Amino acid sequence: MAHNNTFYVTTPIYYVNAKPHLGSLYSTLLADVAKRWHMINGDDTFFLTGTDEHGQKVAQAAEKHGMEPKPFVDSLISSFTDMWKTYELEYDHFIRTTDDHHEKAVQDWIRQLQQQGDIYKSRYEGWYCTASEMFLTERDVDYFTDDGAPICPTTGKAATWVSEECYFFRLSAYQDRLLEFYRNNPGFITPAERMNEVISFVQDGLKDLSISRTTIDWGIPFPDDPDHVTYVWADALNNYITGVGYGDPNKQDMFKKWWPADLHIIGKDILRFHAVYWPAFLMAAGLEMPKKMLVHGFIRVDNQKMSKSLGNVIDPNDLIEQFGVEPVRYHLTRYLTITQDSSLSLRDIEQSINADLADDLGNLLHRTLTLATKNNYTQVEAPAEWGEAEQALHKALVEAIQTAQSELQEYYFHKAYAAIWKFINQVNRYIHDNEPWKLAKTDHERFKQVIAAACHSLYAIGVLLWPMMPTKMEELLSSLGVTMQAGSHDYINELLQSWSMAFTLTKRGPLFQKIERPKEDESAASKEQQQQAEPEQSYITIDQLSQVDLRIGTIKTISDIQGSHKLFKLTVDFGDETRTICAGIKQHYTTDQLVGHQALFVTNLKPRKVMGVESQGMMLMSHDADGNPVMISPTRVVPVGSRLK
Ligand code: ME8
Ligand code: MG
Repeated sequence: MAHNNTFYVTTPIYYVNAKPHLGSLYSTLLADVAKRWHMINGDDTFFLTGTDEHGQKVAQAAEKHGMEPKPFVDSLISSFTDMWKTYELEYDHFIRTTDDHHEKAVQDWIRQLQQQGDIYKSRYEGWYCTASEMFLTERDVDYFTDDGAPICPTTGKAATWVSEECYFFRLSAYQDRLLEFYRNNPGFITPAERMNEVISFVQDGLKDLSISRTTIDWGIPFPDDPDHVTYVWADALNNYITGVGYGDPNKQDMFKKWWPADLHIIGKDILRFHAVYWPAFLMAAGLEMPKKMLVHGFIRVDNQKMSKSLGNVIDPNDLIEQFGVEPVRYHLTRYLTITQDSSLSLRDIEQSINADLADDLGNLLHRTLTLATKNNYTQVEAPAEWGEAEQALHKALVEAIQTAQSELQEYYFHKAYAAIWKFINQVNRYIHDNEPWKLAKTDHERFKQVIAAACHSLYAIGVLLWPMMPTKMEELLSSLGVTMQAGSHDYINELLQSWSMAFTLTKRGPLFQKIERPKEDESAASKEQQQQAEPEQSYITIDQLSQVDLRIGTIKTISDIQGSHKLFKLTVDFGDETRTICAGIKQHYTTDQLVGHQALFVTNLKPRKVMGVESQGMMLMSHDADGNPVMISPTRVVPVGSRLK
């Protein structure tokens, strides 16, 4: 079988501290759709996913269940593989970081780096967040607990102090090479804005990275020093190479074939690990860089963070009962904006099913099949010459495909599929305008041509939507007499050629069932929809606003805080009182830019200890495009202490 190209896509490997949820489904689904899109381009594809099983977070979860880590993770694996199977996620390999081969390959990698001097032994003292398995540096942290412990910006959890002997990876030595790599590969990260975040982090200076722990023992033993286990991220990131044969002498052809990966799909929470540490690890190992990272936003539920404590975590298994697998695949791919956080509501999924799947697409198929069979035209052929309207329709298809292909260069599935949906609606309009139900009685040749154009369009739609809804589209195609063999040839390129196929039609029932609500539920539904049609951020009342005491103060003095590169201690005059307020602006403002100037503060927050200093308020800040804080000041001097209203 001749292929155009190879395509290797990965997902994050998920912590097995709990069952998979909607977020893990989303990343894995995007990888599946990407793989399948490449299959209909005739590419040879490989899709890797799996589980991240070591580290403190997983060990703690096991302990909570009164289990040893290994049996604990073993007990959870099927909740992942079963869900992926149900959702038709066709990975080529499922890697577990407890696999022998992976463990051995990671140890070999460590040995190589040790021999080169990229790994050395020293001591780590600092803060560690177990929930994100991340060493926090001071510049990561904006908030502290009352006891002065930093709060991890990714997880919102308090970090703990760690002081232990450990091995370090010489990350600092890779700073310039990383910056050069980003410069030479501006398209490395999608969306491009995220690249700025990464560059500014690296430019601020890289410290060597602790890559072993002695205070936990659930991890890959460090070679020749079993008191140490490998830091979970130094273990996990390597799955992307060990999963395609790295370190296995029998799999060198496989490794050569698939590495470097074409696409790593990740959520925004793990960008730094993937865009800074991972390329540096690869550079050290002398391996090529992955070609692209797709960094997607977080799914929110009814515009709130999805969290166990809010009780709004959506279990993908529940969605299947209500909506079926493929409508959920459709909705997530089509309507979540990859580049941002997106809100999901069950009503929206219902709307997609009824309006897009049942009305736009399902009816198009149903109408075409019904008209054709009713008029005994089931062996459909392309005419010798297409009319003008049909040529215009074909042109619309070519444009839709070109738009989709170009959006998919950046993996903007939602935009690509919006373009394809536009074509579906053009076909509906074409049928509406050409009235084949009348032609059946007046002009049989014309009738046949309209049906043939509809069938060619439906064929194209079936192929193009197959990556999102493989089973439904195979059913659609089979009612046209076509068997889909994705991966066998370049369907997309063929769709761009002029229409010349033949179809054998078979009538079938509706492809999608509408979601019907009981009558009394209807008014509740429409009320809810009305609320949703309004801008999504739920409103607050004036009363709620007035609960926040926002005041303009004049900065009187500034001073350093011992041990902090980031914070200034300000004394701020509010007219009737002077307060001490800590603000993370040291790297961004000079004394002259601050002292004597007015700025905006919140003055009724509970005072908190920050690096040993009690902060009696908060300076409000905006952020420029590079993420640097920008102070907010009135455009003219106002009386100190004036409240905002
Ligand atoms: O971080 N919306 O694993 P993890 C969208 N083991 N995606 C979400 C999400 C949400 N609300 N919540 C989670 C780890 N995700 C490491 C990865 S890789 C070498 C190691 C998705 O189980 C998203 O892809 O915490 C995020 O990056 C990932 O799950 C984190 O999964
Ligand atoms: Mg996480």
